Amino acid sequence: MSKPRILVTRRVPRECLDLLKQHVDVEHYDKATAIPRGLLLKTAADKDGLLCLLTDKIDAELLAAAPRLQAVSTFSVGYDHVDVPACKARGVAVTNTPGVLTESTADFTWALLMSAARRVVEGDAHMRGGKYKGWDPLLLLGSDVSGKTLGVIGFGRIGQAVAKRAGGFSMRVLYHDTKRASSDVEAALNAVFVPLHELLRESDYVSVHTVLDAGTRHLLDDRAFGLMKKSAYLINAARGPIVDEKALVRALKSERIRGAGLDVYEWEPKMAPGLASCKNAVLAPHLASATLETRVKMGVMAAEGLIDGLVRKTRSPYRVD
Ligand code: GLV
Repeated sequence: MSKPRILVTRRVPRECLDLLKQHVDVEHYDKATAIPRGLLLKTAADKDGLLCLLTDKIDAELLAAAPRLQAVSTFSVGYDHVDVPACKARGVAVTNTPGVLTESTADFTWALLMSAARRVVEGDAHMRGGKYKGWDPLLLLGSDVSGKTLGVIGFGRIGQAVAKRAGGFSMRVLYHDTKRASSDVEAALNAVFVPLHELLRESDYVSVHTVLDAGTRHLLDDRAFGLMKKSAYLINAARGPIVDEKALVRALKSERIRGAGLDVYEWEPKMAPGLASCKNAVLAPHLASATLETRVKMGVMAAEGLIDGLVRKTRSPYRVD
C-alpha cells in the first residue's frame, strides 16, 4: 500500500523530517520564508497531510483546494491560524505542539522583561557605537524588577511558568484569565486573581500570555494603556493582534507607559509605523521558543501528531479539538 503523502511547508529540524520519512512520503518546501499562498494551495491539492507553520493560513479555501486532506499538524502551540471548526467539519484532525515550549517561552519572556527594564539593548548599542566614556551615575537608568508587581494576562501553562519565575525576584504576582486557576496553583505561585482593569492599574510589568481569539484581539488598546502606570512595561510573547500596535506606538512615544518588550507583531513580519524608532521597546523576531532543544522537540511532536492521524489512525494526544 502506498504511503500517505504530506507537505512540510518550511525548513524544519532534521529530526522532524527523519521521523516523517519513516512513515509518509514527504514533499518539502525547504525554505526559510513562508510558502507563497498560491503554491501552498497548489501543492496541498494531492496531499493527505500538512505539517504547517503559524504563517500558513489553514482555512476554508485551503480545505477546498485539498480534498484528500486528513490531518494538519502545526509546528507551534498556537493554532489561531487554523480554522479548527472548518477542519472538524471536514473530518481533518488538527494537532499542535503543547508543553514542550513552555519553559523556553517563559525564559524568553523574562529575557524581554529584563532587557526592557534594564535597557540591555540600548547599552549594547552604546558600547558598539563607541559612546561609552566611563561609569556614569545617570547613564541609561532603568527600572527595578525585584520586589515589583507582575501582571500576567492569560494564566495557562506559559503564563504560570512566567509567574513561577517571578518568585525568584520576590515579586507580587497578579493574574487575569477567563477562568480562575485552582487554589493549589494560586498558592504554589503566590498569584492573585484580579479583574483586568485592576491588573493594568497595579502592575509594573504586564505580560501577555493569552490565546488570540475574538475576545482577546486588541485587548491591550488605548484604553488599557491609559489604565497602566506611566512607569509600567508591556511584554508580549503571545500573539501580535492581542495588542493594538498603533496604540502601543502612541503610548511608547508619548511615554504614557515606560517601555515594552515584544516578540510578536500585529502584522507580522511587519511592524506598525514608528515602532522601530521607539528606543523604549525591545523588539525580537518571534524567538520565544527558539532554542535548539525546544525546536527539535516541537518538530518531533509535530511529526508525531501527523503520523498519529495518517498512519497510526489513533486519536493523537496533541489533537486540539
Ligand atoms: C509560537 O508562537 C507558537 O505558537 O508555538
